[in-house]
Amino acid sequence: MGKPVRLALLGCGTVGSEVVRLLHEQAADLAARVGAPIEIAGIAVRRPNRARGELPVDPALFTTDALGLVKRDDVDVVVEVVGGIEPARTWLVEALRSGKSAVTANKALLAEDGGTLHDAAAEGGADLFYEASVAGAIPLLRPLRDSLHGDSITRVTGIVNGTTNFILSAMDATGAGFTEALEEATALGYAEADPTADVEGFDAAAKAAILASLAFHTRVGADDVHREGITEVSAADMASAKAMGCTIKLLCIAERGPGADGAESVSVRVHPAMIPRSHPLASVGDAFNAVFVEAVAAGQLMFYGRGAGGAPTASAVLGDIVAVARNRLAGVHTASESAYADLPIRPMGEAVTRYHISLDVADRAGVLAAVAGVFARHDVSIATVRQSGRHADASLVIVTHRAPDAALAATVEELRGLDVVRSIASVLRVEGGQ
Ligand code: NDP
Ligand code: HSE
Repeated sequence: MGKPVRLALLGCGTVGSEVVRLLHEQAADLAARVGAPIEIAGIAVRRPNRARGELPVDPALFTTDALGLVKRDDVDVVVEVVGGIEPARTWLVEALRSGKSAVTANKALLAEDGGTLHDAAAEGGADLFYEASVAGAIPLLRPLRDSLHGDSITRVTGIVNGTTNFILSAMDATGAGFTEALEEATALGYAEADPTADVEGFDAAAKAAILASLAFHTRVGADDVHREGITEVSAADMASAKAMGCTIKLLCIAERGPGADGAESVSVRVHPAMIPRSHPLASVGDAFNAVFVEAVAAGQLMFYGRGAGGAPTASAVLGDIVAVARNRLAGVHTASESAYADLPIRPMGEAVTRYHISLDVADRAGVLAAVAGVFARHDVSIATVRQSGRHADASLVIVTHRAPDAALAATVEELRGLDVVRSIASVLRVEGGQ
């Protein structure tokens, strides 16, 4: 057995307390796997005297001085499970620059300013591991970062937010509207008291940025991600999706390919989309996550599991702790970033997708021709048209073929001004089909 590897644990909430529990319960196995015992040197929290149930840890380890703990000479590895941008960034940069490896679950910080953390890791010759930051328990970042490094990833499509997947799955199963499904998610503890980060797509956008950075060897930040949430998805949209043999999911889509100028670029977007029920992601229900990766040689790969929760997330954190502890004993470190490709970010307008548009229209001769003329003017090809209702209740549902998002958006804008169109009931993208 080598000398103990000593951890500074920053945060002891939902994830941190499970990290403590797993470190305690699996101490002997972890020591055998690493080749040295793993010990907790200290735990930084906001309220050290808060009741923490039956946590198997010495209360004397708790402190409010996180930075002081990070700087201690007897700390080898820093584990950050607090969240937010500051002071987490200051603690991690301090650790990494001084050669202490770090494990973090902080997707918000990685998406906002991951470059600063990677630079600090390179400067200090330290490891920066963050498997838990995307899709919780699912081993996903390590395969992207290591196993697929000999291949070229072309597309990553994922359901990476459990709260919104629970809400959309409930809407699909029961016909409930968004508000009703959100209330159910809150009552069952899936949605937080303030669900904004989840339902407006911020959480998924942060994860999309991390996935795209790893998949395409390019620094992608949250600001590079086109983001739309699920608050506008209605029961009528879900019913319309069902009528087409589809369901609606909040997707993160990261693609590599030529842009309008033919140059290789990266497009990253998060938005609700209809997908066919036959698509592998359509059957991902409840609060589960799944990510579909397409690579040139490997073909299609699917990763599935629990994307959140104390124990599942702690499982990923523990995996990282074992990896950095082993590296420390071996006297090596793993380059935390591969950003050599440095590809430009393609604007959303150039993303090629399909639209499903529901229009309330006047029911008289020439209306369809007027509507079709708008699509033709923007070079958007119509795949299907369905009319329901008559007279004052007539509505058209139009599904397009693939076209640049800018052309589709301009089509919708012109339709809004058409006097035969009373209102545009909904516009949704369609993904995953032909
Ligand atoms: P919690 O809110 O449950 O816990 C946060 C912890 O940080 C608490 O122990 C809190 O102290 C401590 N803390 C807060 N501010 C400070 C401060 N200024 N100084 C010292 N300690 C502080 O968060 P989670 O465990 O849910 O999340 C932690 C991280 O993991 C976040 O980055 C999150 O995005 C990520 N994550 C979480 C998942 C989940 O399912 N919960 C899933 C995947 C990632 P105190 O206990 O005294 O309040
Ligand atoms: N709020 C997130 C979710 C937690 O619903 O998936 C995991 O990042």
